Amino acid sequence: MKKMKVFLTRRLHDFALKELKKKYQVEVHSGKIPIPKTKLRSKIKDIDGLICFPYDIIDKELIDLGKNLKVISTYSVGFDHIDVEYARKKKIRVGYTPEVLTDATADLAFSLMIDVMRRVSEGDRTIRAGKWKEIYGAYDYVGVDLQRKTLGILGLGRIGGTLAKRAKAFDMKIIYHNRKPVSKTREKRLGAKYVSFEKLISQSDVISLHVPHTKQTDQLFDKKLFAKMKKTAFLINTARGKIINEKDLASALKKKTIAGAGLDVFAQEPINKNHTFIKISNVVLAPHIGSSTDETRAKMAEITVKNLDHGIKGKKPTYSVGF
Ligand code: DGY
Repeated sequence: MKKMKVFLTRRLHDFALKELKKKYQVEVHSGKIPIPKTKLRSKIKDIDGLICFPYDIIDKELIDLGKNLKVISTYSVGFDHIDVEYARKKKIRVGYTPEVLTDATADLAFSLMIDVMRRVSEGDRTIRAGKWKEIYGAYDYVGVDLQRKTLGILGLGRIGGTLAKRAKAFDMKIIYHNRKPVSKTREKRLGAKYVSFEKLISQSDVISLHVPHTKQTDQLFDKKLFAKMKKTAFLINTARGKIINEKDLASALKKKTIAGAGLDVFAQEPINKNHTFIKISNVVLAPHIGSSTDETRAKMAEITVKNLDHGIKGKKPTYSVGF
């Protein structure tokens, strides 16, 4: 019997590829990342399953070209790069990888927070530029304490909740905002207090974003919001870059409207060395590595393959978006 065709827009772990190759005719894109749209357009035409990554925009046009496409399995918890509604209409299953990356992503959010508040990366950049001797004064290079500061979590879901656990151990005060408050038991366990969005913005010493990118959150953090934050506040983003208006953030950081930021995600990825953030010292940049630990990435690969396996056979993926 002819094997079904699976295309990957980037290389996955060897064990995952081996597993896929047992059952399918597999092709992996090599070369420029993200895969050029023209190439993806031509590949999608005769494949049964697609494994993609957050950089790949899977829109209506692409979905329409996938005449045999049965499943889109994304190697990520976020799926805002896929037109999920349209895929559902076309009876194409969509799989994703939640849960397994919760700890790793919360750890990264926390590490960005410590980094920017204690100026670790900034110090590293200073040393590498041969400028250590310029920072010997008692007031030079001071950061701020984490303990007793208020952490505002926007989106107390899995990752936000895990971040709260980390913050509690550092004696931080935790407030959060969700569309709906979580249960009292969960609030108590995490030591988190529900506040309005406005209070979260104005009372937090650090705000960490854990909401998906949607029409409602698109460019939510703009100059109007930065003006309402404390001048001493920090912004951490491990969710999605488009939740922030980057031009406004760059200007807020330069003018010290807010104290600093730690960013793992950007509106367009990857960013290059001419990006507006590169020359700003009070921002720590990470190359979208929220889930990037050996253990987590292996688990994500396992789920990505399972999701594909199920979807290609017309079954609901283990972790399914929609049906
Ligand atoms: C995801 O999987 O969507 C995360 O952004 C990875 O860091």
